Amino acid sequence: MKILITGASSGIGEELARQYAKSDNELILLARRQSRLEKLQQELLQHAKSVEIVVADVTKFDELQEKIAAIGFVDIVILNAGISVGHSLEITPFSDFKNIYDVNVLSNHAILEILLPHFLAKKSGKIVFISSLASLISMPSSKVYSSSKRALNAYAEGMRYKYKKDGIKVINVLPGFIKSEMTDKNSFYMPFFLSTKDGAKIIYKAIEKEKRFYPFPFRFYLIILLLNSLPNFLKEKIINSLLFDAAH
Ligand SMILES: NC(=O)c1ccc[n+]([C@@H]2O[C@H](COP(=O)([O-])OP(=O)(O)OC[C@H]3O[C@@H](n4cnc5c(N)ncnc54)[C@H](OP(=O)(O)O)[C@@H]3O)[C@@H](O)[C@H]2O)c1
Repeated sequence: MKILITGASSGIGEELARQYAKSDNELILLARRQSRLEKLQQELLQHAKSVEIVVADVTKFDELQEKIAAIGFVDIVILNAGISVGHSLEITPFSDFKNIYDVNVLSNHAILEILLPHFLAKKSGKIVFISSLASLISMPSSKVYSSSKRALNAYAEGMRYKYKKDGIKVINVLPGFIKSEMTDKNSFYMPFFLSTKDGAKIIYKAIEKEKRFYPFPFRFYLIILLLNSLPNFLKEKIINSLLFDAAH
């Protein structure tokens, strides 16, 4: 199988690449940090059939699309590249807002615009979105990130309905807190925190089982469902009581 993983230079993407490094898999690892990709390539070449790296900034849409076009067909694309600007109660600078949407939302369509004709021609392919439990509940300190992932959910849902009849599987994974460069920035308590390896293993299994919508850890998901089922005034009180001091 040919597998393209975006955001493969660290965290979840890097660990997912390790999960997929098997003798019959051809890996294509995409990110900006070339040296990290090369190091991972050296490590995984011992296990995978082949490991190609693509150095690309997913917000440079034209260059990105050229590089994706050069790849051609893949069996699985894992759209994992994502950013947050940490948790803050300050007004989000417009440039940060735009960057989050460029990476977390728009870049995925830039890639799929190129890959979809290949999937349609072969009547197969798996599209994996890495969303977040944060898409299901919007905290005051991370509303832009949450909204970007909620936009991603809506896009993934529509894509799933649209392409089901064409043999294309759309999988949307919504992780809770997993150790990575992204969560290393958080100085508050992260409930149900998972190691990168455990988080990636769960995601790998969800992809293998072709889960359409996969929020995890399940107990964290249940708490969010419970909060969302409360009357707004009560939910608001609870959310605001959870506010942490962003200066810590
Ligand atoms: N960790 C969590 O708790 C958690 C929870 C829910 C969802 N997620 C999602 O999981 C995904 C992976 O995040 P992570 O936690 O593993 O964080 P991470 O370690 O910071 O990894 C982010 C990856 O995205 C790549 N990336 C960022 N901006 C890019 C750009 N402009 N062009 C190309 N690549 C770019 C980074 O590579 P370069 O910097 O080398 O480009 C890196 O490989 C994200 O979509 C995140 O929203 C994470």
